[in-house]
Amino acid sequence: MKNKIIWKFLGTYILSIVIAVFVLNFFVGIKLRDYYELKISERLMSNAFLVGDILEEDLSSNAQEQIQTKIEVLADRLNLRITVIDIGGKVLGDSEEDPHLMDDHSDRLEIIRVIEGGIGESNRFSDTLGYNMKYVAIDVKKDNNSIGVVRLALPLREVESQIRVIYRIVLLGGIIAIVFVVITGYFISRSIISPITQMKEIAQALAKGDFSKRVDIRTKDELEVLAGSLNKMADELQLKINNLKKMDKVRTDFVANVSHELKTPLTSIKGFIETLEDGAIDDKENARRFISIIKKHAEALSNIINDLLSLSELELAKDRISKCNFDLKGLLDEVILGFGHAISNKKQKLELDFKGNSFKIFADRTKIEEVFVNLIDNSVKYTPETGQIKIVIAERKDMLEMRVEDTGIGIPQEHLDRIFERFYRVDKARSRKFGGTGLGLAIVKHIILLHNGNIDIESQIGNGTKVIITLPKQ
Ligand SMILES: Nc1ncnc2c1ncn2[C@@H]1O[C@H](COP(=O)(O)OP(=O)(O)O)[C@@H](O)[C@H]1O
Ligand SMILES: [Mg+2]
Repeated sequence: MKNKIIWKFLGTYILSIVIAVFVLNFFVGIKLRDYYELKISERLMSNAFLVGDILEEDLSSNAQEQIQTKIEVLADRLNLRITVIDIGGKVLGDSEEDPHLMDDHSDRLEIIRVIEGGIGESNRFSDTLGYNMKYVAIDVKKDNNSIGVVRLALPLREVESQIRVIYRIVLLGGIIAIVFVVITGYFISRSIISPITQMKEIAQALAKGDFSKRVDIRTKDELEVLAGSLNKMADELQLKINNLKKMDKVRTDFVANVSHELKTPLTSIKGFIETLEDGAIDDKENARRFISIIKKHAEALSNIINDLLSLSELELAKDRISKCNFDLKGLLDEVILGFGHAISNKKQKLELDFKGNSFKIFADRTKIEEVFVNLIDNSVKYTPETGQIKIVIAERKDMLEMRVEDTGIGIPQEHLDRIFERFYRVDKARSRKFGGTGLGLAIVKHIILLHNGNIDIESQIGNGTKVIITLPKQ
């Protein structure tokens, strides 16, 4: 394939040059032939007049011997053929043949023309010499009477050989141009083909699912732009594939987690029911205890399913949360009322702190309620008796900052990064004991992100935890 492109380039170049050479030769040939013929006839003409002048005396005295000797010398000097003919057509002298052996010349075209009073000029085949000649004839006059004709001739093949010399020069130029074009064309084609080959390779790699290859092309032309787009495409594909893989892993992990979380209480429930079946049902005292344990596990199952439903609903909701204007103060009063019992049971102290004038917000009221329920629930659960819980709502420019702080057990540093992940719990057993599912913070984060807000958690083990949320008012 590589060779094919090269030959396409070179073939086109070479063909163009060959055509150019032929066209050039054709037109140059025509022009040159005209030019040389004109030059030759000019030369013949001026020499003919000269020879006529020289032979005037001899012609008028009809001194044939003299004429023959003179034209032999002159023809030799001028490097031409000279023929002298009398008015009747009889050859009086010829520089190349014996005039006595030559036939009557009155029928020759150039002679006819001279006799008719013009300038005799013709290109024709010489019977005497056996090749193409250019003839120029003039008549020699004495006292206004024609006394003879002087004819000068040159072989036309000289013109042909001159033109052939030019042809050869043009042809040589053409060959040099072809050699030059083949060499430069080879390098130019290679500089185009090599990037194309590189790009072909990464395109094939992409097609095979290998997104790691990139091309490095710096030709500063369209090829570089193309290579850039190809690299960008490979980057994007790689990113997308990685994301898909990550999403896939998150999904399978999630399914595994859900199954595991559901299995634990179900195994317990099944175990206690079997024990009851095996006779424990008749032992009133124990039966009651087992049933309350079964009830607790059933509640745990129900909690998990409720939280899962919440999460999937949030995922489906995306942009479809139903926002309204409401006052956070009012909402918090309601939420806290619900925790009154739990807080007083643990002898904890709850403090509410509002900083600012307006705590109105445009948001999904039910979901924001869910946020506070989850956060306050965590604080109550993970703060020992007599601990403190503080809720701070502070008005910022076009945001509201909300903090839920406690003096509880805290979260070890190494868990903070992952604490918002589904089912992530520092201590599974403890969380379960409190009816936790490990989904609460995941739900909270989801809701905050749906509102274009931000959530952060700070915690020190043994010292307490702060969850900081900022939400846009609008
Ligand atoms: N205020 C807090 N103090 C200490 N630990 C907390 C607090 N809030 C959350 N955590 C830790 O983060 C984990 C995840 O919280 P969450 O998603 O609400 O699950 P759950 O409350 O069901 O256990 C909890 O199991 C707990 O380990
Ligand atoms: Mg929770």
